[in-house]
Amino acid sequence: MPVAQMLAADVLSRQDPVLAEILLSELDRQSTTLQLIAAENFTSPAVLAALGSPLANKYAEGYPGSRFHGGCEIVDVAERIAADRAKALFGADHANVQSHSGSSAVLAAYAALLRPGDTVLAMGLPFGGHLTHGSPANFSGRWFDFVGYGVEAETGLIDYDQVRTLARTHRPKAVVCGSISYPRHIDYAAFREIAHEVGAYLIADAGHPIGLVAGRAAPSPVPYADVVCATTHKVLRGPRGGMILCKSELAERVDRAVFPFTQGGAQMNAIAAKAVAFGEAATPAFTAYAHQVVANAQVLADELGEEGLAITTGGTDTHLITADPVPLGVDGRTARGRLAAAGMVLDCCALPHGDARGLRLGTAALTTQGMGEAEMARIAVLIAGVLREDIDARSAREEVRELTGRFPPYPG
Ligand SMILES: Cc1ncc(COP(=O)(O)O)c(C=O)c1O
Repeated sequence: MPVAQMLAADVLSRQDPVLAEILLSELDRQSTTLQLIAAENFTSPAVLAALGSPLANKYAEGYPGSRFHGGCEIVDVAERIAADRAKALFGADHANVQSHSGSSAVLAAYAALLRPGDTVLAMGLPFGGHLTHGSPANFSGRWFDFVGYGVEAETGLIDYDQVRTLARTHRPKAVVCGSISYPRHIDYAAFREIAHEVGAYLIADAGHPIGLVAGRAAPSPVPYADVVCATTHKVLRGPRGGMILCKSELAERVDRAVFPFTQGGAQMNAIAAKAVAFGEAATPAFTAYAHQVVANAQVLADELGEEGLAITTGGTDTHLITADPVPLGVDGRTARGRLAAAGMVLDCCALPHGDARGLRLGTAALTTQGMGEAEMARIAVLIAGVLREDIDARSAREEVRELTGRFPPYPG
């Protein structure tokens, strides 16, 4: 049954129409505006079905075959399937699929490998590091001594020489590679070499590119990193959640770092939904999707550049684009507001140069809707027109409605 009908006909509509209306309104918002947030996607109805299943009722502290609760014999099978599918998909020795989120996965990776006070080298937050990479507002910044590497102001590319120099100077216990906004492939072999030289662990925080890795559209960190942390809800198109991949030697430490050290009972509905998503990601259709995500991002980046936005690094290798709208006479925050009013939803982000905020956008959700290069070119013109105020918000919204009407995320 189509998702909207499912919701409307659902018991929730009869029991709690107020909440049912909110769910339907959100579905309408997602279906009639352009979801350009780089970290978002549309999960399949099958993933949504697993999330909303009775597995949500089950308490399952521990791991398959070794639980603290009774009645886990069926959910154990679900978790084994999820872990086996993740291992096969990514060629990993071990997969822990219990992390509640990407941040929880990173917390567990640190717990497995580090002690409070250890030095960690990671991308600095002003350059695209995540909160878990040493923000003072996050556990990471309070419990570890973070040293930040950056990107070159001119090119926006990671300065691997700087990473090496900082590693030699500070002798970190772990090096973290991964970012919330870096649009280029990361050279995992270079990071491995640097970490190896100073005797540090290499943690790849691959929350963003992991879906592209699954679809063979981006290089894999698995052969290089001691531990790979990831989210399951971005390009990978699974439920909101996290996972950790690692080599066999670290499997026990990672598992203990997740439960009981940093988490309690596993969310079995989310784990089943992860299994469904991994199953989908192993298909040729997903490989084609991942490559189309990148092709779409490259066209969108090129066309936005043609329209006058300054594209960080001059383009993208991934689903993700960061851009400075200032050449069009508008700063990042104002640009985001103008685009939101026109029905185009995206984020602000740090830029490699100065303190100004730029725009971060991605093509994962649009590509799931079936949009291709022609639509990306049209969206670029629309974005630039709205930013220049050549196109008013009302006309832009109409065009967005026309576009989303032809590419509904949940047809039917
Ligand atoms: C690199 C990276 N690490 C960690 C996270 C955190 O994921 P979550 O929001 O699921 O905690 C993200 C999410 O944007 C991310 O991009």
